[in-house]
Amino acid sequence: MAKKANKFLIGNWKMNPQTVAEAEKLFKKIKPTAVRFKNTHVVLCPPTIFLGDIEPLYRGEKISFGAQDIFWEMDGAYTGEISASQLVDAGVSYVLIGHSERRALGEDNESVKRKLEATLRHSLTPVLCVGETKRDHGGEYLSFITEQITSAFEDISVKDVSDVVIAYEPVWAIGKDEDDAMTAHELHQMSLFVRKILTNLYDAKTARKVSVIYGGSVKRENAEELISEGNIDGFLVGSASLDAEHFLDIGRIIENS
Ligand code: PGA
Repeated sequence: MAKKANKFLIGNWKMNPQTVAEAEKLFKKIKPTAVRFKNTHVVLCPPTIFLGDIEPLYRGEKISFGAQDIFWEMDGAYTGEISASQLVDAGVSYVLIGHSERRALGEDNESVKRKLEATLRHSLTPVLCVGETKRDHGGEYLSFITEQITSAFEDISVKDVSDVVIAYEPVWAIGKDEDDAMTAHELHQMSLFVRKILTNLYDAKTARKVSVIYGGSVKRENAEELISEGNIDGFLVGSASLDAEHFLDIGRIIENS
């Protein structure tokens, strides 16, 4: 596994764009600036079907490629699934695990746990996505996140924990405008809370080594406040990652933070 970066700018292209030609065009626009970032590691997660065309367009360590999902079995009769070795062979080094859009389609904490193990076993860097669907005054959402993190790490040894990136993504803030995103103050509390869960599971030193990033309507308009006051190590960006200029502006903000 490559040495972990200080800060992350991860682009989740989801099920976009629709053609490989558009995907290549987007990548070629992102590449020249992304390779010049010094402290910010750029990870692009295109639809897996485009990886074979995009990955050969860059040879270097400044940009990594990520998958949007993984399956925990090594090989065999699992129609539609993609194994860790297939991802490694395709040049992938990061994997999004438990994204809320996959959880909404039925992924549960048990499969997230198995995927996390499979990812670490193959020396891929997992980006574990957690976040509540809604907030309540009684603080139920805090137990919800505690459960998501605790169950995912159940069988993960202290040695492997620091390789994990946790993406805190409140579902209510995903796919909205910057005005609907989380405030920097709320984010600061949540990043402390995530580290507190890890401290309880392991210890404070280990918890500090885990990168915690934020996702949910990150735009160039709100990125500065979120990164400067949110106590986070970068962003997982959805819709704004499909516009190279917007995405790179967010990267510049992380660089200068
Ligand atoms: P968004 O998506 O930036 O469009 O809100 C974030 C995500 O789903 O990871």
